[in-house]
Amino acid sequence: MVLKDFIEKHERLLEKRKQQGLLRKLEVVRQKVKGIIDINGRKLIDFSSNDYLGLSSNKEMAAAAVEALETWGCGAGASRLMSGNAAIFHELEGKVAEMSSKDEALLFGSGYLANIGVISGLVGRKDCVFADRLVHASILDGIHLSRARLYRFRHNDASHLESLLKRERKKHDNALIVVESLYSMDGDVAPLKRITDLKKEYNTLLLVDEAHAVGILGPEGRGLVQEDVAQDADITVGTFGKAYGSYGAYAALGTQMKEILVNQARPFIFSTALPPHVAAVNLKAVALAAQMDSVRKKVAELSQAFRDEISRRCGLQCFGNHHIIPVIVGDNDKALEMQQRLKEKGFFVKAVRPPTVPDGTARLRISVTAHHAPEHVISLARAIAEYGLEINR
Ligand SMILES: Cc1ncc(COP(=O)(O)O)c(C=O)c1O
Repeated sequence: MVLKDFIEKHERLLEKRKQQGLLRKLEVVRQKVKGIIDINGRKLIDFSSNDYLGLSSNKEMAAAAVEALETWGCGAGASRLMSGNAAIFHELEGKVAEMSSKDEALLFGSGYLANIGVISGLVGRKDCVFADRLVHASILDGIHLSRARLYRFRHNDASHLESLLKRERKKHDNALIVVESLYSMDGDVAPLKRITDLKKEYNTLLLVDEAHAVGILGPEGRGLVQEDVAQDADITVGTFGKAYGSYGAYAALGTQMKEILVNQARPFIFSTALPPHVAAVNLKAVALAAQMDSVRKKVAELSQAFRDEISRRCGLQCFGNHHIIPVIVGDNDKALEMQQRLKEKGFFVKAVRPPTVPDGTARLRISVTAHHAPEHVISLARAIAEYGLEINR
């Protein structure tokens, strides 16, 4: 009976979501080859992947995995604080620290775990966190877990952040500011210089989530923090699951901060370490990505070509300047309808709806990668312009 009540309650909630155009559904991917995704036997050009450099199918990375599997086996067998601390993790942490201009780095199972671990490991009940209103769910979950007081500032609005700091900072012990360098659903960039000035003035720590920037943006793809605030961001979080084409994540930080997190970051302490062969893959990915300036240039040019074409066709100016391009539709059902119609034309583009994005801002999230050719992005821009005008009429 209890089970029946439980299921009925959740079925009612799911039904409500369905009526609001918010139900999530899994689509089975049969294959992905060079940017072409096979969904139920239909081959579509994939504009939904975060495999920005196309590294997920890299042969050298696969070979590194095979070699490390021979040495280390399939799994770490324990958390790092027990017997799972393979030497290769330290090698990877050294490389990550170096590319991030930090003394140390600490690996996590994923970017989600890194954010909840770092934030809840560093701040607590008497502290506060100032976070951009559009930060990723993992950052918000980390803040909730930490029980620190949360203040959210308007997206990319450093003046609003400053007014909150002025009013609230003194009421708390420690304070942390959290932003993303390149926003995952909006494709725009945080005003990092302004934010680092504020962090110094108001005596806070700064965490910058570079999930969608590392590998693809900044000098040698080392992230946007490296452009001009490398010394001022206390912690950067990066993932290996996006431009590096693999899995796992890291926090780049100072020596003392690492020691604090080894002792206090619960997802680090209480979870099995990454499989060591994944660390071997990530080491190879970091080395390869450093040499991929021409691929980064290609992705930047393709992204610009898409932006130019859609602007020419229907006057749409999409946020940002980089490889994540949001086409804001507004209504959830309209976004789903556009997703379906693009699929019929041969494009796999995902409609992103609340709560991933704020209410009333459902959108198509277009992700440009090294697999695309100019004709792919141009034909997608034309298809969206055509449908967009019709749908918005
Ligand atoms: C900004 C941001 N941070 C963290 C994550 C989580 O990273 P991972 O996929 O490695 O868990 C994501 C994933 O979408 C993200 O967009």
